[in-house]
Amino acid sequence: MKLAADTGMMKSVTRSLHWTDGELVLLDQTRLPGEIVEQRQESIEQVWESIKLLRVRGAPAIGIAGAYGLLVGMKPYRERPLSEFMAKLETSAAYLNSSRPTAVNLSWALQRMTGAAARQRGQVGSAAQLYDLLVLEAVRIHDEDKAICRAIGEYGMALMHAGMGILTHCNAGALATSELGTATAPMYLAHERGIGLRIYADETRPLLQGARLTTWELQRAGLDVTLICDNMAAYIMSQGLIDICIVGCDRVAANGDAANKIGTLGVAILARHFNIPFYVACPSSTVDLGTPDGSGIVIEERGADEVLFCGGRRTGPEGAKIRNPAFDVTPQALIAGFITDRGILRPPYADTLTRHFSVS
Ligand code: MRU
Repeated sequence: MKLAADTGMMKSVTRSLHWTDGELVLLDQTRLPGEIVEQRQESIEQVWESIKLLRVRGAPAIGIAGAYGLLVGMKPYRERPLSEFMAKLETSAAYLNSSRPTAVNLSWALQRMTGAAARQRGQVGSAAQLYDLLVLEAVRIHDEDKAICRAIGEYGMALMHAGMGILTHCNAGALATSELGTATAPMYLAHERGIGLRIYADETRPLLQGARLTTWELQRAGLDVTLICDNMAAYIMSQGLIDICIVGCDRVAANGDAANKIGTLGVAILARHFNIPFYVACPSSTVDLGTPDGSGIVIEERGADEVLFCGGRRTGPEGAKIRNPAFDVTPQALIAGFITDRGILRPPYADTLTRHFSVS
């Protein structure tokens, strides 16, 4: 497999976060596309707020930020007794996990960190030694995500052909992950290999991840991307411009129901109407076999101002009743396949997901 990191293209793919000299640094995605500003995370409270306010967002990136964020919180406890360190680790993980509920990657990464600590506790003489081992675990989570994105890209290449039109929703790109993204990984690899694609990005109201982030990152990397408002997707499909839809996901239940950014369900229903295959790009860290179906997925409800204001301007009347669910669940019956790091999975998902993901 050709490593994307070795290519010139990857130089133009922006890092969502990095761990340098024992510090967590996040690209503040709320300021894109206007400003590229990185923010060093000084405390666990700051990391919690960065996840809550979507400075870092996208399921895999939230998980990685959570793992490193735990290290930020545990740094002052390195000189304390091991028992105190372990107790603080558990409460800190629970605290970070409360920042956003829908993407399973956050709890998955935090559980990996606390699980690693519990396993290795008996082999170390001090909290400082355990902390060093946890740094290695967080870096492993980060590195694995790069490989997972690349594998999704390679498997997704089977669906790519020159000149095809692809519709995507929200941002499941490099900014949402460690590197190539999930939904965007086959697009980046196709581009790198000279296969020209026409990509359509839904703007993704209310927070405009498709406009501010997907369009920005694909354009910077030199891909052919067209930004459309969410309510234009049906028309664009009706014109025969879309051959395939590929979106990311925040949690996939055992039966294949998939939670993703609000509006994804509408895209899937439209795709079914126009007979366009609808694919979900899904890293192993997003599969939740412990949740039987989509009805068990907690949907984050966010503040009213995100709907009432756009670009700092009020767009709805004062006192308006507001709903702001941040995600929806696409039923498995609308999904043509999951592009995963373990291959493209087809229905029946209850079988294929269990077979591929019950052993990590
Ligand atoms: O609210 P966000 O911006 O974190 O929502 C992000 C999405 O819904 C992405 O599509 C999903 O996390 C997949 S990222 C590879």
